[in-house]
Amino acid sequence: MNLAKKIIAEELIAFESKFKDSVKSNVPLLDRIMQYIVNRQGKQLRPMFVLISAKLAGNINESTYRAASLVELLHTATLVHDDVVDESYERRGFFSTYALWKTKVSVLVGDYLLAKGLLLSLDGKDYRILHILSEAVKQMSEGELLQIEKARKLNLKEEIYFEIIKNKTASLLASACAAGAWSSCEDENKTEKLRQFGEWVGIAFQIKDDLFDYGDAVIGKPTGNDIKEKKLTLPLIYTLNHVNFSTKREIIYIIKNQNRIREKVKFVIQCVKQAGGIEYGIQKMNEYRDKALKLLHEFPDSEPRKALEELVRYTTDRKH
Ligand code: IPE
Ligand code: IPE
Ligand code: MG
Ligand code: MG
Repeated sequence: MNLAKKIIAEELIAFESKFKDSVKSNVPLLDRIMQYIVNRQGKQLRPMFVLISAKLAGNINESTYRAASLVELLHTATLVHDDVVDESYERRGFFSTYALWKTKVSVLVGDYLLAKGLLLSLDGKDYRILHILSEAVKQMSEGELLQIEKARKLNLKEEIYFEIIKNKTASLLASACAAGAWSSCEDENKTEKLRQFGEWVGIAFQIKDDLFDYGDAVIGKPTGNDIKEKKLTLPLIYTLNHVNFSTKREIIYIIKNQNRIREKVKFVIQCVKQAGGIEYGIQKMNEYRDKALKLLHEFPDSEPRKALEELVRYTTDRKH
């Protein structure tokens, strides 16, 4: 990510300090939790997409920074809530908010982050940007709920999987790119093109995340968690469609009734690996990566375009 980090080096520093300011609270417990959260920053991919999209479409300005903060605030809020939903104790290599403060506090902290984001945009009168991001927030909830519904029934078609990840993950990346573009150019065409670009990157991003769950690399959060949560992701869907009937029945039985038994989960992971589920996931991920790159190349060549290309490649090649 050298070029990406280089062309927005100063802007990223400015963003970080604005982001930290945006979560301050006078309530001592909240302020402590906010400190805990901002001290464990993630990859900051979404703010980078906001900033570089803005640079591609025009010049970075104050509303670009507010858009980047809003996006990261929303992202952080959804992670705090997501760890409650997924009963996950680890995030960014440390204890999750859920692990340390449990459900009630985590729900309220997520809501607080969301409210802070809304206020930031309203204070800056960034109505269009707030509209773009509110759409993502709605879709993210829809995606997570659809996922829960499908986890209960355990029948999942590939089509529905894509619907879920488009909503729960790609919508925010799409909105990040669109908001960045809008902040610097207010041009409908460029904004829509970058939105579509972000959506395809986002789909590739979530397939990559789902592939991590089948590996044993240290990624700062638990692996093997999706099966435990009965989440049928692309490698598993592919596997269920390609193994014989009795293996399929066995896998489904494990996911339904033995998903907390480590050895059983390991068996399912083994089946996925043998059936070629991982390769299939990689293939689909690369298809979305290439779609995104093709669209990006409709913009004239420039440093920001190269930087976005680098970010796309980072999304699919990253190690955590
Ligand atoms: C994690 O996103 C949530 C998903 C959509 C899979 P990131 O992997 O970008 O999280 P951080 O911000 O770097 O921790
Ligand atoms: C993405 O799904 C979660 C959000 C969009 C908030 P996951 O549940 O797979 O994300 P991780 O793996 O916990 O980061
Ligand atoms: Mg999760
Ligand atoms: Mg995951």
